[in-house]
Amino acid sequence: MVPFLGGASGWQASLLAGAAKTFWMPEQRSTFASDVDALFYGVLWICVFFFLLIVAMAAFFIVKYRRTDARPRAEKSSHHNTTLEVVWSVVPLIIVLWIFVVGFRGFMDLRVAPQGAYEIGVTAEKWNWTFTYPNGYEDSNLHVPLGKPVKLIMSSRDVIHSFFVPDFRVKFDIVPGRYSTVWFEATQTGQSPIYCTEYCGTSHSNMLATAIVHEPGEFDSWLAAAANWMEGLSPTEAGEILYTKKGCVQCHSTDGSVGVGPSFRGSFGNTRAFADGSSTVMDENYIRESILNPTAKVVVGFDPVMPTFQGRFDDDELAATIAYIKSLK
Ligand code: CUA
Repeated sequence: MVPFLGGASGWQASLLAGAAKTFWMPEQRSTFASDVDALFYGVLWICVFFFLLIVAMAAFFIVKYRRTDARPRAEKSSHHNTTLEVVWSVVPLIIVLWIFVVGFRGFMDLRVAPQGAYEIGVTAEKWNWTFTYPNGYEDSNLHVPLGKPVKLIMSSRDVIHSFFVPDFRVKFDIVPGRYSTVWFEATQTGQSPIYCTEYCGTSHSNMLATAIVHEPGEFDSWLAAAANWMEGLSPTEAGEILYTKKGCVQCHSTDGSVGVGPSFRGSFGNTRAFADGSSTVMDENYIRESILNPTAKVVVGFDPVMPTFQGRFDDDELAATIAYIKSLK
């Protein structure tokens, strides 16, 4: 890491940025955080300084040169003051060059992951995150080991989303049709919220996940156990977990409330009416079709916005999801 301020330390670092949450910034939980914050506070205090200087000088001149009976007309003033003009050009130039150099170095740090970083795939879609680990396991939350560089290889299935973890000071757009990458190294165990920060439609504000930082040893055992998570669960229990994991929860409630899609509650065995005027009883085949080919039958009153889950539910997962929907009486 290149220190932004040529190594701000001691009182400088504590003056510029504390590790704890402040009025301006959330807690610092990655190796980037102190450098990003140092630049932020640098720019902030430069703005505050010049704002106060300009307002104070404007107020002073308004009073000093106001019209009075003794001075009814504006007095002649000199056209040029070379010293003053050079100062007010060169000083801001030095300041903006400093901001550019420090900002560009930080940008390059954020963009270029170190060799050997731990790679995790990220898939963004309306309105869900999927994190894919090296052993093929998928999770709706981001689990990472402490103190190890993690590189995210991100893609979108539909529109532009943006991956944002304020605690890590990491943010990058995910554009359909290409891979985007970011990396970070977590410095504390615990949980941090993940947001989508590019408006992507109705449930954009619900496109949330959690970054969970594990102790390094604990991470490996977590991943091994997570990959076999369905073992020992009944289909209904597994289905309930899949409901969150696969993102169904973003659009389909289980309490009867209407979201982007119809509620699952009490739906099994009911007759569904479709936009094309037809209808059918909601059975196992209907659920299977609706997961794999969601636009084949669109329930009246809803938009055909659900993406296909073809290739993303295996047979066990389909059976478990159907069992869970059946259980929601
Ligand atoms: Cu995805 Cu906003």
